[in-house]
Amino acid sequence: MNTDGGMVNAFREDAARLDPQTAEMIARRKRALGPAYRLFYEKPLHLVRGEGVWLYDTDGNAFLDAYNNVTSIGHCHPAVVEAVARQSAVLATNTRYIHGAILDYAERLLATMPDALEHMMFTCTGSDANDLAIRIAQSFTGGRGIVVTETAYHGITQAVSEFSPSLGAGVDLGAHVRTVPAPDAYREGDAMAERFAGSVAAAFADLRRHGIKPALFICDGIFASDGVFDGPRGFLKGAVDAARSAGALYIADEVQSGFGRTGEVLWGFQRHDVVPDLVTMGKPMGNGYPVAGVAMRADIVEDFGRKSRYFNTFGGNAVAIAAATAVLDVIEGEGLVRNAGKIGEYLRTGLRDHLTRHGQAGDVRGAGLFIGVDLVADAQAKAPDAKTAGAVVNGLRDEGVLISGCAKAANVLKIRPPLVFAKHDADVFLSAFDRVLGHLK
Ligand SMILES: Cc1ncc(COP(=O)(O)O)c(C=O)c1O
Repeated sequence: MNTDGGMVNAFREDAARLDPQTAEMIARRKRALGPAYRLFYEKPLHLVRGEGVWLYDTDGNAFLDAYNNVTSIGHCHPAVVEAVARQSAVLATNTRYIHGAILDYAERLLATMPDALEHMMFTCTGSDANDLAIRIAQSFTGGRGIVVTETAYHGITQAVSEFSPSLGAGVDLGAHVRTVPAPDAYREGDAMAERFAGSVAAAFADLRRHGIKPALFICDGIFASDGVFDGPRGFLKGAVDAARSAGALYIADEVQSGFGRTGEVLWGFQRHDVVPDLVTMGKPMGNGYPVAGVAMRADIVEDFGRKSRYFNTFGGNAVAIAAATAVLDVIEGEGLVRNAGKIGEYLRTGLRDHLTRHGQAGDVRGAGLFIGVDLVADAQAKAPDAKTAGAVVNGLRDEGVLISGCAKAANVLKIRPPLVFAKHDADVFLSAFDRVLGHLK
C-alpha cells in the first residue's frame, strides 16, 4: 500500500535530510497531531512569514512561492488583511440574518458566470462545497452514480473522499463511483477527446448495469492532480454531453482552476465552452481566509431547498464575504487574469527552452499560471520519469523555489505561482530551474 496516502512529494522519514531542530519539530508534530498529516519535501519547511510571492523560514531564508493556489493574489495581501480586520471589528454574523455584503458578492460572482447559474450557496472549504453539490445533484437526479478521473481529488469528507481516488489505495472508492483515465493528449494525441467522452459514457453504462442510477460527472477544470491537462480547448464538451445523455449532471470543480488561474477567463470550464449544472469553488476565493461556495441552476436546487434546511455556521459569514470581496476587487482591479495568461506563457516558453538545452525529454503544458511539466525517460516511449521529477522538486526547494508534483505516476511538476507573479519573478524561477537541471546531469 502507498504509505504516503497517495501524495506526491510527501516527506518520507527514511529519505530524510534533517537538521536536529527540524527533526525535533517533526517528532513534536507526530506526538501532537498524530499520524495522518503529511509534510512536503525531503527537507520539510518551517515557514514563519509570507509577503507577496515570497515565503520566509525560521532562519530568514526566502523562498519564491510558485505553488500555493490559496494566496493567489500574494501572501498577506494588504487589501484582504484590511478587509478582514475591518469587518471583524464591526460584525461577524451568519446567514440567518440579512446582510447586504453577501448579496452584493453573490450577485457579482454570478454575473461572471453563464446565465444558467442563478444561485450561490456558501461553505467554508472546497470539500464542503463538493459535499453540498453532490447532495443537491443526487437529490435532483434521484441517482447516486458518480464518474471521476482516475487520479482526481475533490476533498476529504466521507462522501467526497469516496470519489477522490488520488487519496490512494488505502481509501476505498464508493461502490457507486467509477473512474476513467485522465484526458492525456500528450500520450493519446488527437484520439483523446473521443476516447475520454467514450470512457465517461461507458462508466455510466457500467453503473446502470449494476443497478446504480447516474447522478453526476465531476472534474476539475485543469485536471490538477491527474497531471495538469489543459487541452485542446473544448475537449471536455464530448464528456459533458456523454454524462448528460446518461442522465447525469456536470459539476465543474473550480477549486483549483477558478478565479483567473487559467489565464484568459475567470473560470476553467469557460475554456471548454461548456455550461455546468453546478460549479464548486474555494481555495483562492479568500486568499487564505476560509471561504468557498457552490453556484447552481435554480431548477436543480428547488426540490432540495424545499426539503432540506441549509445552514453552515461559518459559510458566508460577514468576515468571509469581506475577504472574498477584497480578493475579487484585486483580481479585477490589477488585471490579474491577463497577467496570469501573459506570465504563464512566458514561463512555459522558458521551461521548454531549458528542457531542450539540458536534453531532458518531456511536455510543458498548462493554461495561465497553472503549469504542468511531464517528465519522461525518452521522447518516443514517453515513459513517466518520477525519479527526475522528485529530484527537480527537491532541487528547486534547495534553490529557494517552491513547486510540487502530481499525476498517477508522480512524474509531473506542478507549478502554480500566485497570479501576481511578475516577469522578474519568472526569471528568478527559470534560472533556478536551469541550475537544477544542470545539477542532475
Ligand atoms: C480540485 C479540488 N477540489 C476540492 C478540493 C478540496 O478543497 P479543501 O481542501 O478546501 O477542502 C481541492 C483541494 O486541494 C481540490 O484541489
